[in-house]
Order: sequence, then structure tokens, then C-alpha cells
Amino acid sequence: MNHPALDVHLDADELSRALRGDVVAGLTADQKWLPPKWFYDAHGSELFEQITELREYYPTRTERQILTDRAAEIAGHTRARSLIELGSGYSTKTQLLLDALTAAGCLETFAPMDVSPTALTEAAGRITADYPGLRVHNIVGDITRHLKHLPAGGDRLIAFLGGTIGNLEPAERAAFLADVRAVLEPGEHLLLGTDLVKSPNVVVPAYDDADGVTAEFNRNVLRVLNSSLDADFDLDGFAHVALWNAEAEWIEMRLRARWPMRVTIPGVDLVVDFASGEEIRTEVSAKFRPEGVRRELSEAGFSLNHWWTDRDGLFALSLATATG
Ligand code: SAH
Ligand code: TRP
Repeated sequence: MNHPALDVHLDADELSRALRGDVVAGLTADQKWLPPKWFYDAHGSELFEQITELREYYPTRTERQILTDRAAEIAGHTRARSLIELGSGYSTKTQLLLDALTAAGCLETFAPMDVSPTALTEAAGRITADYPGLRVHNIVGDITRHLKHLPAGGDRLIAFLGGTIGNLEPAERAAFLADVRAVLEPGEHLLLGTDLVKSPNVVVPAYDDADGVTAEFNRNVLRVLNSSLDADFDLDGFAHVALWNAEAEWIEMRLRARWPMRVTIPGVDLVVDFASGEEIRTEVSAKFRPEGVRRELSEAGFSLNHWWTDRDGLFALSLATATG
């Protein structure tokens, strides 16, 4: 069996430094916040996989259906020799692309990048076993900082699935898309999954499921702080809140203190007081409209070639080309 290559741009020291910086910045702010990438330790990545299987969580199965319908077209259009996947997690839907690109006879390399080494390792084991001729190149890195370390061209297809682009704030998103464009040569491709604007009656339950898996996932960020910074967050003291912001057209995830609490975080030498009802903002998940996706891609230097949705118009896949 071939062995996956592994590049680590975020070793344990750097991860810990980045986490400490974010925790100090976020928990000393007037409106407290924590960035979403810290959800994804081994337990968090596992919880996210459970979310993708929930009845209420339509994005994963919908995107999988679109990929099933369109993978052969994507392979025919891109003829990619390298598939690079950002925020790849367990790369479960990616198999559809790997199958189509392998059948088309063009694919040589698969390079997934994620902050979660456990998810990457799990996926790499499965993929190297399933695609014997494929070179697998794992990259532990932060997609907002380490894109310049992606494998060089050409004929690359960068896939960013799951609607994860919606987890970046608008300014961060524009910078990110420009960075993606900057690493590509003209003519190379981006495949982008975006969740679409729809009734809050459908969106909200996807982020607040009846079994409380999403709540557990949201609270996992506190568990990460407890284990890596020796903090003493009482997880039961925080309620999961998911609300639809109609103006921004995004879901906001928060953790709301159920009662007043004083939390000590020895790893950053910090004591944080929470008033009853005080919230930590943990994540946004933006929902998109077709014209917005087209505009954001074009502003970053991409032209949109294909826009594919499911029958109910819940989710979209865009295939775009880097322009010259
Ligand atoms: N692509 C998969 C997983 C989506 S969940 C799917 O469609 O189901 C989001 C993934 O992005 C997680 O695996 C998480 O670890 C990763 N992630 C989140 N923020 C990241 C960042 N800043 N850099 C790299 N990976 C990130
Ligand atoms: N990319 C996923 C999304 O926006 C991430 C996600 C799903 C998530 N459910 C969540 C993040 C709950 C935080 C809390 O759909």
C-alpha cells in the first residue's frame, strides 16, 4: 500500500499559540466570541459527522445528491490531475469526485487540508486503501493562513464543500476567495458548495436538532478550552442558541450562560465573568443567493461556469474558473 504524504503547518505548539491568542481576544471582548475552528478536535470532528446524518441537517445529503448527479460532468469539464480539498474533514462526499476523476483517467493527486489531524488521518487511511494508484498528500493547516503551501499546478481543482465558506465572516470570505484565486493559475478550477437562503423553518432546526447533537457540538468548544487550557467551564451552565439573522441572512450560533459564572482559564492566565444570559458568539453560517455567489466569485477573479442545485433549491454547487 502507498503511504500518504503529510505536511504539518500547524504543529501542536502553533495550534496552542493560536488557540491562546483567540481565547484572550474573544473572551475579553465586550461581546464575547470564539472562532469556530476550535470546535474540531477529535471529539468535535466526530460530533460533526453525527450532525451530517441528522434528519434536520439537510445540507450534507443534498450536496451529496448534487455531487452524485454532477460528478461526471465536473470531471469532464475540469480534467483535474490534482484534487485539493479545503476543510475536508472525513472527506466522505469527496469519494464521488475521486470516483469520477479516476474513471475519467486524469487524477493523480488528492490533497486534503484541514485543521483537524484526526479527521485527515482517518480519511487518508480509507482513501489510500480505496484508490491504490492515487498519491495522497495530507496537509494539516488553516485555510485562512496556509493556502500558499498547497501543491503547485497545474490542472488543479480546489473543492470547498459543505457550505463551510458560510462560516467565514463576509470580509474574511472575500480575503479567502482572493487567496484561493492567488494560488491558482488561470484556467484552474474551484468547486464551491453553498447553502441557499430559504425559510427559517427549515434552516433553524438544521442548527438546533431535537436530539441536541448540535448543542453538544457547540458546547464542545468549551470542552476544548477545558482540556487544552485547563479551564473550568461548566458545560451544563451554557445553553445552545441558534438564531436566524434575517438581515445578514445567516444563522448565528451562541452559547448563553444560564446563570452567573466565574470561569478561570489558567492556560492563558485569565478569569472571565459571565452575567446570567450573557452570550459567547461561536459561529455564523451564512446562506447564499445565486447572484451573491456569482458576484463574490467574480470579485475574487473567478468566472462562474456552472451552477447546480437540487430539485428543491436547498443547496448549490458552483464550478468556477480562475480568470486571467
Ligand atoms: N468538508 C466536510 C466537513 C465540513 S465541516 C463536509 O462537507 O462535510 C468543516 C471542516 O472544516 C471541519 O473538518 C473543520 O476541521 C475544518 N475547518 C474549520 N475551520 C478551518 C480552518 N480555518 N482551516 C482548515 N480547516 C478548517
Ligand atoms: N459548515 C457547517 C454549516 O455551517 C458547520 C456546522 C453545522 C456547524 N452545524 C453546526 C457549526 C453547528 C457550528 C454549530 O452548516
